[in-house]
Amino acid sequence: MLRGIRWVSYGLIVLVLLGTGFYFETRPTPSQANGGVSLPGGITVGGPFSLVDDTGKPVTDATYHGRWMLVYFGYTFCPDVCPTELQTIAGALDKIGPLAKNVAPLFITVDPERDTQTVLAQYVKLFDDRIVGLTGTPAQIAAAAKAYRVYYAKTTPKDSSTYLMDHSSFMYLMGPDGRLRTLFPQGLSADKLADALRTQMTTS
Ligand code: NI
Repeated sequence: MLRGIRWVSYGLIVLVLLGTGFYFETRPTPSQANGGVSLPGGITVGGPFSLVDDTGKPVTDATYHGRWMLVYFGYTFCPDVCPTELQTIAGALDKIGPLAKNVAPLFITVDPERDTQTVLAQYVKLFDDRIVGLTGTPAQIAAAAKAYRVYYAKTTPKDSSTYLMDHSSFMYLMGPDGRLRTLFPQGLSADKLADALRTQMTTS
């Protein structure tokens, strides 16, 4: 039942995004809500967050304004998708060369219970020194996830003593003004992500 509702809501979000040509050509519009971009139908993606980085420093979205934010929500115990996506981000950062200085790649955990600052720091640096892990209280994580329309939920597989996190898996590219420019579906290649970053960063 829950699973059904979840897929229906994913489907609706994807349909709305694709239907508006959102993936390829989203630009900030005059109608802004909470620092995010308003899409037709009143859907807003992005906005303020208040978290803690992997060095223990409190940060907000404003900390990264002036640079491009590449935001991904996941968790370090993720068995498959998150490591793949982080590898893609690391690959794309290498491919865009000096432009990467203007990108803040942010990995926001949806599992603050296990992803402490130390766990996150060790994990993200396995992929790339430039990736920053962000955690916070469960309430701070929930607020950030809500702003980015990220779905996440704890699940415990049968015969397992540990839990996994179900989570939606988009990458969000926010401009230097903190507003959504585009988002990327799961499974993009590092080459494609690098191309998209280059295009966005050199044409706006
Ligand atoms: Ni994951």
